[in-house]
Amino acid sequence: MKNIKKTALVTGANKGIGKAIAIKLSKQGIRVIGTSTSQYGVQAINAYLKKNGFGLILDLKDTNSISEKIEEIYKKKYSIDILINNAGAKLDKLLIQMKNKEWEDIIKINLTSIFYISKAVIRSMIKKKSGRIITISSIIGYTGNKGQINYSAAKSGLIGFHKTLALEVASKGITVNIIAPGLIKTEFIKDLNASQYKNYLSKIPMKRLGTVEEIADAVIFLSSHKASYITGQTLHINGGMYM
Ligand SMILES: NC(=O)c1ccc[n+]([C@@H]2O[C@H](COP(=O)([O-])OP(=O)(O)OC[C@H]3O[C@@H](n4cnc5c(N)ncnc54)[C@H](OP(=O)(O)O)[C@@H]3O)[C@@H](O)[C@H]2O)c1
Repeated sequence: MKNIKKTALVTGANKGIGKAIAIKLSKQGIRVIGTSTSQYGVQAINAYLKKNGFGLILDLKDTNSISEKIEEIYKKKYSIDILINNAGAKLDKLLIQMKNKEWEDIIKINLTSIFYISKAVIRSMIKKKSGRIITISSIIGYTGNKGQINYSAAKSGLIGFHKTLALEVASKGITVNIIAPGLIKTEFIKDLNASQYKNYLSKIPMKRLGTVEEIADAVIFLSSHKASYITGQTLHINGGMYM
């Protein structure tokens, strides 16, 4: 039975956008393996997934641990049919104030880890001649943003990575796409002050933040059979903030 049901790996599934994606995938009957950096997060994932999957500790900063973690999943006889690279982090400073480590950590979490994790799952997808890779990037990867040089560089880097990987595996039944959210109501933006918030809102034609469900719905579409001819694309979801 284990091999019939599809399995999705969702990074950063304990909260925010990742949690909404994991819940919606699970409701589609897809088994979900969700990751968090903490035991507390893993417990949260186990609690909402109930029996339809499990949580796993994964710190994307520790790039060398990624292939081992994926190997652990394969050893348990689960295939990864859908990879959702959702986890992300930011550490905002102007270039002039940014420490080397602050640059490197954010590049590792948001960009380098995607190379390691994709490499770890791609062989098995090629063998199966099917697979979906969907990565949550950001509007900032397309527009840039003062004070987010590490984050915007990492998210921009994902564009070339995904277009290239899409080309490399297109004939193997694997699609590779990006979703680029604008401002979404999660803890990720909790440090915005009132005037920053007002300023952002003034730039959103729909005059509201997006919801985690609006991002998760797009992930469900791209991971479904209905999106089987879409690859190498970015789907922008931002209330008109960037077109
Ligand atoms: N919210 C927005 O406005 C917005 C806009 C554009 C793009 N995004 C992107 O959307 C994605 C999800 O963000 P969110 O808004 O849902 O934020 P969130 O609620 O803060 O969640 C971030 C997730 O990333 C995980 N994470 C952070 N550092 C990690 C690391 N070193 N290794 C592994 N996992 C790590 C966290 O896991 P732990 O809690 O276990 O550490 C958490 O699950 C990110 O890629 C973000 O860049 C968000």
